[in-house]
Formats: sequence, C-alpha cells, structure tokens
Amino acid sequence: MTAATAALHFLLAFMLVACLAVELALLKAPPERVPFPALAKIDALYGLSAGLLVAVGLYRAINFEKGWAYYSHSLPFLIKLGLFVAIAIASIYPTIHFFRARHGDKHVDRTTIDRIRRIVHLELALVAALVVCASLAAKGIGFVT
Ligand code: HEM
Repeated sequence: MTAATAALHFLLAFMLVACLAVELALLKAPPERVPFPALAKIDALYGLSAGLLVAVGLYRAINFEKGWAYYSHSLPFLIKLGLFVAIAIASIYPTIHFFRARHGDKHVDRTTIDRIRRIVHLELALVAALVVCASLAAKGIGFVT
C-alpha cells in the first residue's frame, strides 16, 4: 500500500507537469489560433491532478511514510506545502482566462497570453523547487524541533 500510494503520487505529479508543459506549447500559437477549448480541458485535468495530489499526499503524510509528527517538523516539507499553495494561487489567472475564452466568444490579446505564459513558466519553476523540498523532506534533512 505504501508503494502504491507513492507510485500514485509520482504519476499525479508527472501528470501535473505534463499539463503545464502542454499549456505552454498551446499558448505559443498566434492569439487568434490559441485553442482555448483544449486549454480549458487540459487545465481541468491539471486541477484534478493537483486536487488528487493534495489528497494522496496528505493521506501518505498522515498514514504512511514517517507520519505527521515528523512532517510537521520538517522545514522542507512545510516549504513544499507553501510552494504548492503558491502554485495553486498562481494558476487562478490562467484558469479564469481559459474558461472564459473556451467558447470562442471572448478575444484574449497578445499581452494577456504572454502574461499567462509567464505565469505557467513560474508555476513550472515552483514545481522544480517543490521537488527539491520533497527530496530533502524524504531524506530527513531540515528536521526542526
Ligand atoms: C506538485 C505537487 C507535488 C509534487 C511535484 C510532489 C513530488 C514529490 C516527490 C518527487 C516525492 C518523492 C521524494 C523522494 O522520495 O525523494 C514526494 C514525496 C512525498 N510527498 Fe509530494 N509532491 C507534491 C505534492 C504533495 C502534497 C500536496 C503533499 C501533502 C499534502 C505531499 C506529500 C508527500 C509525502 C508525504 C511524501 C513522502 C516523503 C517521504 O518519503 O518521507 N506531496 N512528493
């Protein structure tokens, strides 16, 4: 069961990163050709993977691995949670635009698309930092009493 939840956690994390990478690729198109219906679907998948990551992650932290008594004193783990919240907040702006423009009735200009791309880049950078924190927490580095 521990291995199964660990594998699920990895698969969900890969799914989340893949969604962000696909969003970036689709946002490269000229403004009038950006496929907002597809972006809205991928963003929904991204939201689903993020939601399941929290559920599986918390379940692991509380029931498996080193237990909540350890994680609540692990600085990298707490930073990891903070980064996760920051990523969730950053994703609100792109999500709003993808869903508003998905029926093709709302024009999104180049400036807004560039801003969305910068935000998705930032989200990917924060995920990279989060993975470093995940590894430090897993190896017992940064435990504070
Ligand atoms: C984008 C989101 C996330 C990513 C990319 C991610 C990534 C990872 C990775 C790569 C590991 C394995 C670390 C290693 O063995 O070296 C891991 C472990 C873990 N993650 Fe996450 N994680 C995410 C979100 C979360 C969340 C939201 C929680 C909890 C609320 C969580 C809880 C855990 C736990 C408990 C472990 C096991 C650590 C251990 O082995 O002691 N993760 N995560």
